[in-house]
Amino acid sequence: MSAASQHRIAPSLLSADFARLGEEVRDVLAAGADWIHFDVMDNHYVPNLTFGPMVCEALRKHAVKPDGSPAVIDVHLMVQPVDSLAQAFCRAGADVVSFHPEASAHVDRTLQLIKAEGKQAGLVFNPATPLDVLEWVIDKVDLVLIMSVNPGFGGQSFIPSALKKLEAARRLIDASGRDIRLEIDGGVKVDNIRQIANAGADTFVAGSAIFGQPDYRAVIDAMRRQLA
Ligand code: DX5
Ligand code: ZN
Repeated sequence: MSAASQHRIAPSLLSADFARLGEEVRDVLAAGADWIHFDVMDNHYVPNLTFGPMVCEALRKHAVKPDGSPAVIDVHLMVQPVDSLAQAFCRAGADVVSFHPEASAHVDRTLQLIKAEGKQAGLVFNPATPLDVLEWVIDKVDLVLIMSVNPGFGGQSFIPSALKKLEAARRLIDASGRDIRLEIDGGVKVDNIRQIANAGADTFVAGSAIFGQPDYRAVIDAMRRQLA
């Protein structure tokens, strides 16, 4: 398998048209997206409010690739507490459920809860959060998400220190020998995606870069050309 075929582009619905979410999901997958990134904000852990498990469940049937296969729904929980919503999203059709370790009283328990639902579990690291906890739970983690903005809003600028953190996370993942995705979220654009991939990311969330343009395919194709 070539490196490029292992890359995943995950458009964030945060920048989609909320009045037409089902259509937006179908359109962006038809335009070549791999995953759907679903940002859950509770106006408590982050100063913004988005959507809950009922919206995820309603979108599940729209999250279909052009060949008819289901697309991964990648749920990014920016909520506190975590456990009850993590479980609700597992049951609402999410494939990957990620949370911020600061937001969970018992990180290991939350990871176990997601795994017990038969879903993939991810840990999310804010710009100022060290990767320390990862070492102790890496056996239960399927995805590491590095935030390159402070969570809460789309359309912010990429914080360059995220590149160094990606490199550190990549070393930990490789040393573990486990099949763990390394995702980046915040300020990802056509003109920085190559540098981000060079730092070790294999999964790329992009909200405003994709949904802010009229032609989703043109953006996704341009990103893939950078990654090739
Ligand atoms: C921020 C969210 C991101 C956001 C990315 O809290 O987690 O997924 O939508 O948006 P852009 O790509 O516009 O920075
Ligand atoms: Zn996100």
